[in-house]
Amino acid sequence: MPEAPPAPRVFFAIWPDAEVRQGLMQLALQVHRQVQGKPTRADSVHMTLLFLGSTPIERLELLAELASGVAFEAFTLDMGKVGCWKHNQVAWVAPRTTPLPLAHLVEQLERGATARGFPVESRPFAPHLTLVRKARCAGLDTGRGAELDAGPPRIRWDVREFVLVRSELGQDGSRYHPIGRWPAVSQPGRDV
Ligand code: 2AM
Repeated sequence: MPEAPPAPRVFFAIWPDAEVRQGLMQLALQVHRQVQGKPTRADSVHMTLLFLGSTPIERLELLAELASGVAFEAFTLDMGKVGCWKHNQVAWVAPRTTPLPLAHLVEQLERGATARGFPVESRPFAPHLTLVRKARCAGLDTGRGAELDAGPPRIRWDVREFVLVRSELGQDGSRYHPIGRWPAVSQPGRDV
């Protein structure tokens, strides 16, 4: 019998454009000086909305169908907080507040995935972008995030679409390939 193709690891995410990415990478290098470790590659920096893990190829269609039914308003992220989690040695940047449309987007994805039988993490959504892995968090003073005001400029990120991404583990870490994109239905909304 032919072997079944391997189930790809997939997740929903938002992906920065070139300008935002440039700001994020400058920040990553700055944070890297404090925590050492391995900075995220420029083409990998993203915010995960919902991690689904290994997914049989025939079930990817269900995710596309779910994404097509999601209605989300465009929003702007004010990336103004950096921090470091000791438990997984990740240094990150996060928005100062979570815009309502972002929370709604994630809720819709979680609900839709659960309804279609995908295992969904019960941990609450913690919006962040990983800047450095294998970070020595002692170099950054907090796990909850410190405001960026005194340091580098904040990064404003206009989010107009979300993507479904396939992750492939290579010798030098994960490589990510977008396999679907869904646009926002309207203009930026309010913060919560
Ligand atoms: P992280 O950046 O905080 O590590 C691809 O692996 C993306 O999915 C990463 O952004 C990762 O978040 C996120 N992710 C969330 N839950 C995960 C899990 N259980 N295993 C691997 N990655 C996960």
